[in-house]
Order: sequence, then structure tokens, then C-alpha cells
Amino acid sequence: MTLVLGIESSCDETAAALVDGDRRIVAQRIASQDAEHAPYGGVVPEIAARAHAERLAPMIEGVLADAGVTLADCDAIAATAGPGLIGGVMVGLVSAKALAMASDTPLIAINHLEGHALSPRLADASIGFPYVLLLVSGGHCQILRVDGVGRYKRLATTIDDALGEAFDKTAKILGLGFPGGPAVERKAMEGDPSAVPLPRPMVGSGEPHFSFAGLKSAVLRAHESGQFEIADIAASFQQAAVDCVIDRLRVALAETDDIDTLVVAGGVAANATVRAALEQVAADHGMRFAAPPPKLCTDNAAMIAWAGVERLALPEFSPAPLDISARPRW
Ligand code: KG4
Ligand code: ZN
Repeated sequence: MTLVLGIESSCDETAAALVDGDRRIVAQRIASQDAEHAPYGGVVPEIAARAHAERLAPMIEGVLADAGVTLADCDAIAATAGPGLIGGVMVGLVSAKALAMASDTPLIAINHLEGHALSPRLADASIGFPYVLLLVSGGHCQILRVDGVGRYKRLATTIDDALGEAFDKTAKILGLGFPGGPAVERKAMEGDPSAVPLPRPMVGSGEPHFSFAGLKSAVLRAHESGQFEIADIAASFQQAAVDCVIDRLRVALAETDDIDTLVVAGGVAANATVRAALEQVAADHGMRFAAPPPKLCTDNAAMIAWAGVERLALPEFSPAPLDISARPRW
């Protein structure tokens, strides 16, 4: 049975996991840096890199110990090589290189977005190619056509902020703390989604791209006006964001008639309102809808290990050279 060690350190989660060819997450550990970054209301790259450097090596040892295996039992070491914060990516990739060299195990350099893109297949063996993927995280907001491992076509992207970033900025404006997405979602439960008139940027546009900067500015103005309750602003923001996503997705889906599965991934996929709305869009298009469990939606190493399992199975697979560089903008 194939066994791959995965390492993730591209943003503010330090994570290691072992995943096998049967989709079993044999062991995984994850350390969030929320407490370190919370005083600044966002991720501070220098703090993140230090925290990864301190935690990663003992974490990898821990994961191997949890599973009762050694590196010699692993068929490959898969690490995020980008995109992400350069310091963190380097910590993970350099660690993976050192381990690969010391144990003579193949190294696989994984694009973080590919990790998210393939994560639904880790959660559910019945998800086959092709599928339409909505990838919504703190750093990315894209609609992709996924035809196979390494075969991705981008149908849409954001012209300014990512959706998770919009949640985070809204949380900051409303004083809801960090990380913002879950805080906005919780607050929104107490509010009225139609209480605050907010714009739906790009809705109606013929291209499926996203834009959230104008929505964030409108949230700021609504808050500063002093006319609205925090919960109502949170709920109205979330509704506006969902309306934008749904409209953009409908435009993209008009170009993908041959695909019958819609998948969502990335941190914002943990949001219940977003998930429910996507389920409806899929139903309207006669498509199957799939979303990984929330723990696989936010950054984790199991998805990186799984992307490694998928890459290892390709007939054209070849290990990454040990002099491969981190690619922060990959
Ligand atoms: O995928 P992820 O862990 O990291 C990136 O690759 O960016 O996504 C983190 C993003 C953050 O912006 C966070 O606020 C957002 O996902 N997020 C949520 C929720 N949980 C996480 N946004 C809305 N609702 C949530 N429940
Ligand atoms: Zn991510």
C-alpha cells in the first residue's frame, strides 16, 4: 500500500500527515498559529515563518510515531512548494528535501492549490474527473475545470480580494477578531441578511470573474454610519458574498455543460451558508455537489499527502530534483 508523508506550511497552519493509497489518513497533526497572529488582526509573515521552523520537525516525528512507521516505510514525501508566504514555504520544502535526501525517498513538490483541488477525492472515492471546482480560500478565489491530476483550466479568478480575505477584512472592520471567516459566520446567525443594503460586485457581468473590494468598502461605510447592528452587517455581507459567488458560478457553468459534478474546496467551503447555496446551484444544473468535510477544507497536510498519492500514481511520475526552489507565486 502506497504511503505518503505530506507537509504543509504555506500560510499560518503548520501541518504534517500520512495518507495511504486507500484514502486513509493514517496520522495527522496540525498546529494553528491563530493565537500568534490574532493581536495583529492578520497573518504576519515573519511570525509565521518562525513558528513553522520551531514546530515542523517535532510534528513530523510525532506523525510518524502516531502511525508507528519510519520514513523508510514512506513511498514519497510531498511538500507544498508554493504559492504562499515565502518563509513558511521554504521551511516546509527544505525540511522535506532534507528528509528525502537522508532517507533516499522521492520528493514531490505540490502546488498548494492542487492540494485543495484534489482534496474532495481524498474525502470521497466516487468523485471522478472531470469536475468544476470552486476554490475559495484566504488567498484564492477561482473557478477551475479539473480534467485530471495536473490538468486544470482556470475559468475565473478575482480581480482584487479573495472571498476568504473579504470575510477576514469584514471581521476586522466589525471587530469580530481573527480568523475572520468563522467569526463572521457565527455573528451572521444572529442577524438579518436583508437589513443592510450592500452591493453585489460583478453580478450580471458576462465573464465569471470575482471582485470583493467594493463590497468590503461598503461594509466599512455601513459600519461607520452607525445605523446598523453588527450582526445585521455580518449577515448582509455574507448574503451579498454568497449572491456574488452563485451568480459567477452560474456564468461559469454555462461553459461546462459536459461536466456533471460541482465541488467546493478551500477555507470558505467550511461556511454552511455558502455550502447550502452551492448545493442549490448544483441541483438547479442537475449536477452532483460535493464538499470535503470542513477539516479538509481549511489548510491541512492530508490534502498535500493525498496530492502526492495522486501524482505518484501517474505513469509519467518523476520525483522533484533536490535543488527545486520554493515558488511563492506559483
Ligand atoms: O484554505 P485556507 O485555510 O487558507 C488559505 O489557503 O487561504 O482558508 C482560510 C480562509 C480564511 O480567509 C478564513 O477566514 C476562511 O478561509 N474561512 C471561512 C470560514 N472558515 C474559514 N470563511 C467563511 N466562513 C467560514 N466558516
Ligand atoms: Zn489553502
